[in-house]
Amino acid sequence: MNWRKLRTFLLTALILSLIPATRYYQIDVPLLRFLKGSHLDPVTLHLSGEFVESNLGTEQNPDGSVTVRMIAEQYLFIPHCILVPAGVPVHLRITSADAVHSLVFNDTDYAVKVLPGTISEAQLQFPRAGDYKTVCREFCGAGHYAMRSALKVVPRDQFPALRPQERGNCAAQ
Ligand code: CUA
Repeated sequence: MNWRKLRTFLLTALILSLIPATRYYQIDVPLLRFLKGSHLDPVTLHLSGEFVESNLGTEQNPDGSVTVRMIAEQYLFIPHCILVPAGVPVHLRITSADAVHSLVFNDTDYAVKVLPGTISEAQLQFPRAGDYKTVCREFCGAGHYAMRSALKVVPRDQFPALRPQERGNCAAQ
């Protein structure tokens, strides 16, 4: 192989490798995990495992941060409204029960791509209390434009200790 061909080959390989790099960056799914696949079955999410209904919503961690677990499905986010404290790290774990969705928190920079069969993780933080609208930004079918939900951020000292049955809604505040 002469140098010219080698150079062309290397340049092509570099450019091609950039395509998945940009594509998977915004998905928030580590590329390695995406390639290895996942054992999360989108069809049985509600039956067992991390994403059963009683485990969804906001859970307080011993260090003061919170973990939020959500499911995206045609055409809603579950829970429909989530409650988090202001100014603390929010670890989001979300998966899809069907198509590819994208969870966007309006008025913030956060956009999380959600795929069936794997968990998207994102580290979020909301400095101020307030109500945020959340919408789906990935076209996912006929009801896509109606796929929206809400996020309620309350002052840290007003964030209640949520019981499991209160985690999935905003009524606890
Ligand atoms: Cu879900 Cu668009």
